[in-house]
Amino acid sequence: MAEVIDGKKVAAEVTAKVKALTAELAGKGKGQPGLAVVIVGEDPASQVYVASKSRTAKECGFLSLQHTLPADTSEQALLKLIGNLNSDPAIHGILVQLPLPAHIDAGKVIQAIAPAKDVDGFHFINVGKLGTGETETAFVPCTPAGSMLLIERMHGKDLSGLSAVVLGRSNIVGKPMANLLLAANATVTIAHSRTRDLPALARTADILVAAVGRPEMVRGDWVKPGATVIDVGINRIPAPEKGEGKSRLVGDVAYEEAAAIAGAITPVPGGVGPMTIAMLMANTVISAYLAAGLERPSF
Ligand code: GUN
Repeated sequence: MAEVIDGKKVAAEVTAKVKALTAELAGKGKGQPGLAVVIVGEDPASQVYVASKSRTAKECGFLSLQHTLPADTSEQALLKLIGNLNSDPAIHGILVQLPLPAHIDAGKVIQAIAPAKDVDGFHFINVGKLGTGETETAFVPCTPAGSMLLIERMHGKDLSGLSAVVLGRSNIVGKPMANLLLAANATVTIAHSRTRDLPALARTADILVAAVGRPEMVRGDWVKPGATVIDVGINRIPAPEKGEGKSRLVGDVAYEEAAAIAGAITPVPGGVGPMTIAMLMANTVISAYLAAGLERPSF
C-alpha cells in the first residue's frame, strides 16, 4: 500500500511559518499583511472557498478584507474596485474568486490586478516569470505551488531523471504545474482530453498529477508501480449508500485502486486541498515582505 501524503499536516506547517513571519514583520514595525478577497455572485462552492480563505487569513494575523458583490455587478465597477485595492498600501494580496459571471471578462479583470499583488499568480507577468523559470521572483498559482511542496516532501527539490505526467492543461493548474516540474528538472509531459492512450502515457510517470476535473477517472492500472500520485481533483458525487440525497467528495483518481499500486498518494479530502489555501497565505506574506523592502521568505 502507498504512503498517504498528509496535506493537512504540511499545510499546517506552512501556515505556522506564515504566522511566525507575520509576527516578525509586526515586530519590525512594518505592519501586517493585507489580503483582499473579492467574490461576485452567489456560487455556493465559491462562497465556501472564499469564507475559508478569509478565515485562514485572520488566523495568520493578516488584515483580511472580503468584498462580496452582487451577481449583476458591472465589469467597470469591479475594475474600479481593483484599481482602489491596487493603490491601497494596506493591501498586499488581491484575489478575485473565479469563475466570474458570464457578463464580466475574467481575463481583463485578472490583468487589471497589479502583478506585485497578484497572489493567485494569474497575471501575464507572473505567468511569464514562471514560464521562463524565474520561480524565485514569480507569484506561483497556489494549487500547483502546494502540490509541488508535497512532491518535494517525497523526492526533494531536484527531480532530475524522473518523468512527470500532468493530466490536464488548465491555466490555473495543469500549465503552471508542468512549468514547476520542469523548473525542478523533471522530464514533463502534459496530457489532456485529446491525448491518445492516456492510460499508457500515465503509466510512464514516476510523478503523476491528475487535474482533469473528472471524478475517479484515473484507475489503478494507469499508475506505474511505486509512482507518486498527486490528486488535484475535488468532485462531489452522489453517495446513496450514506442515505438519500447524500454526497461525498472524491478526487480525479480512483483512490483505493491507485493506492494499491502507487508508492505515495494524496487523499481527497486532506491532500492538495488544504495546501491551496496555505500557499495563498504564503504568497500574501511574501508580498508584504517585498513591499516592506525585506528579503523574500521561501517556503
Ligand atoms: N477558483 C478555483 N480555484 C481558484 C483559484 O485558485 N483562485 C481563484 N481566484 N479562483 C479559483
